[in-house]
Amino acid sequence: MSTDFGVLGHPVGHSLSPVMFEAAFFEYGMHDLKYELFDIDKEHLENFLRELPNMDSPISGLAVTIPYKETVKDWVDKLDEKAKIIGAVNTLVKVKEKTRVARATLNEKKSARANSKIQWKGFNTDWFGAKKALEEVTRLNGKRVVILGAGGAAAAIVYACIDAGARVTILNRTLDKAEELVTRFKNLPQAKDEKQALLQAGKLEDILHYPADILIHTTSIGMWPNVNVSLVPAEYFRRGMVVFDIVYNPLQTKLVKEAQASGCKIVPGYKMLLYQAEKQFELWFKKKAPVHVMEKALLDALRLVH
Ligand code: ATR
Repeated sequence: MSTDFGVLGHPVGHSLSPVMFEAAFFEYGMHDLKYELFDIDKEHLENFLRELPNMDSPISGLAVTIPYKETVKDWVDKLDEKAKIIGAVNTLVKVKEKTRVARATLNEKKSARANSKIQWKGFNTDWFGAKKALEEVTRLNGKRVVILGAGGAAAAIVYACIDAGARVTILNRTLDKAEELVTRFKNLPQAKDEKQALLQAGKLEDILHYPADILIHTTSIGMWPNVNVSLVPAEYFRRGMVVFDIVYNPLQTKLVKEAQASGCKIVPGYKMLLYQAEKQFELWFKKKAPVHVMEKALLDALRLVH
C-alpha cells in the first residue's frame, strides 16, 4: 500500500507544500511516498475526517491550511500543548496506539497488534517557522515587536515572539480582535513581568505611535495580484529595524521594498513557510529535513509563479 501525505484545505490549488515535500522525498529516495492536495469543501470535511482513522486509509500525515486550522484542532485525539495555546493545528500526525502487554506470549502480541488503534495528533509548526525565520536575523529577547494583523497567522507569531521573550504590540484594523489575542496569551508565564506590559493591543491606524525594533506584517495585504499596497506608511521605517512580511508572493512586497530603501534588515517572508514545513517533515519522519533542497524547490517555484 502506498503511504500518502498531503495538505488539507480549501482551496489548496496554489499550495507550495507539494513542491517542497516532493523535493525532500526525492532527495532521500523515499519513492513510495506521495504528497497530495486534499481540496475538501466544508460540506465534505466531516466525511473526510471520519475516514482518516480507518486502518485502511493510506494517509499518514497531513498539513492543514486555511480554513480548517481551528476546526481540526477540535477534532484530533491528542493536541500538542503549543497548538492548544495558539488555538490552531497545521500538522496532523498519525500514531498507532499500541495496547501494551507485559511479558506477552506470541499470540497475545499478535492480538495486541490487531487491536492497535489509530490516533491523530495535532501540532502547530507555524510558530516554529516564524521563530526560526526571525532568529536567523535577530535576537527576540527584550525586543519591541509590532505585529500587524490579528488573524490565524498572527496568533502563531505572537506566541513565537512571547515565548522568545519579546515585548509584543498587536495592531489591527479591528481593535477587538487584537485585544482577543492579548487575552489569549497574557496568562502565559513568558508574558508576565511586574515592571512592564509585555503584551498590548492597539489600532492599526495609530501605527506611528508604536515604534518597533522588529515589525511583522501578517495580513494578506500586498499579495499578488494586488501588489501596489502596503499597510505601513514609509515614514515608519527606521535604519536597522528588522522587517518581516509573511507575504511571499511576490518575493518582495511593496512593504519590503520600502523597508529596504530605509535601511531595514529584511526577514524573507518565504522562510516561515519553509521552516514550518521543515518541522512537519521532522514530526512525520522523525529525522532531519533536507531544508536546503526544500528551499531551492520553493524558491524555484516562487520565481516561476509569474
Ligand atoms: P489569516 O488566518 O491568514 O491570518 P484572517 O484570520 O482572515 O487570515 O485575518 C486577516 C487579517 O488581515 C486580520 O487581522 C484583518 O483585520 P480585521 O481583523 O480588521 O479584519 C486583516 N486585514 C484584512 N484586510 C485588511 C485591510 N484591508 N486593512 C487592514 N487589515 C486587513
